[in-house]
Amino acid sequence: MNNIEGKVIVITGASSGLGEATAKYLSELGATIVLGARREDRIQSLADELSKNGGKALAKATDVTNPDQVKALVDAAVEAYGRVDVLLNNAGLMPLSPLEDLKIDEWNQMIDVNIKGVLYGIAAALPHMKQQKSGHIINVSSVAGHKIFPGSVLYSATKSAIRVISEGLRQEVKEYNLRTTIISPGAVKTELLEHISVDDIQKANKEYVNQVGLSPSAFARLVAFVVSEPEDVDINEILFRPTAQGL
Ligand SMILES: NC(=O)c1ccc[n+]([C@@H]2O[C@H](COP(=O)([O-])OP(=O)(O)OC[C@H]3O[C@@H](n4cnc5c(N)ncnc54)[C@H](OP(=O)(O)O)[C@@H]3O)[C@@H](O)[C@H]2O)c1
Repeated sequence: MNNIEGKVIVITGASSGLGEATAKYLSELGATIVLGARREDRIQSLADELSKNGGKALAKATDVTNPDQVKALVDAAVEAYGRVDVLLNNAGLMPLSPLEDLKIDEWNQMIDVNIKGVLYGIAAALPHMKQQKSGHIINVSSVAGHKIFPGSVLYSATKSAIRVISEGLRQEVKEYNLRTTIISPGAVKTELLEHISVDDIQKANKEYVNQVGLSPSAFARLVAFVVSEPEDVDINEILFRPTAQGL
């Protein structure tokens, strides 16, 4: 047994990039996958693909800035499959910009998706996991949650917050036998850079990530690793980068 087979795994931000790759890989390894994101067409066709390949999957349109929708996503997993074993809080945005550009709407968007979205995921999963006396919450931070660079201030702040929230959660849920993991990726080739509205920052980041960025499968393998460890092993934090990444 790989300790993945048969687990019910909810993934936010499953419509592209890291979430999509992880859904496919964990499904291949025998997990039941519940996919959440706003682009319903994408997650529905992914669920269809996973089912066609012999897996179990369902898709539910979810905006993580809405706590009721995040609760409905996790509840749908429990209703359909009887439990929720893993929540991968992966949905996120990275519209980099210098503070002096005063892109207040983008700051708020990052706070709403990257921080509040993760908190809503925890709020949705925790009651079920407490009752089960088992479960695993995996939160996606970033190298930018460890480092600050010009243009990354708000993004780094949200990703640092995820590390704080995850470590606090880890300490608070011991009595319920829950596991918590922070995964902090470096550069990975996904759609993440599409939302950068400052042209020169987007261009520089695209050039860099095209050059050194990893495939999302690198992230998927790490998620599989932390889930597959025996239940008494709690891998709390992983930081990974392309070998060529300097920052
Ligand atoms: N790629 C990297 O180099 C890298 C490095 C470090 C950390 N990360 C983190 O990895 C995570 C995944 O990003 P990615 O690289 O895979 O980028 P991506 O391809 O742009 O995927 C982002 C995902 O988040 C979802 N999302 C955004 N806003 C949402 C909302 N309001 N409600 C629900 N879902 C929402 C998107 O789905 P919809 O648009 O369909 O809703 C999409 O599925 C993010 O947290 C990101 O910060 C990525």
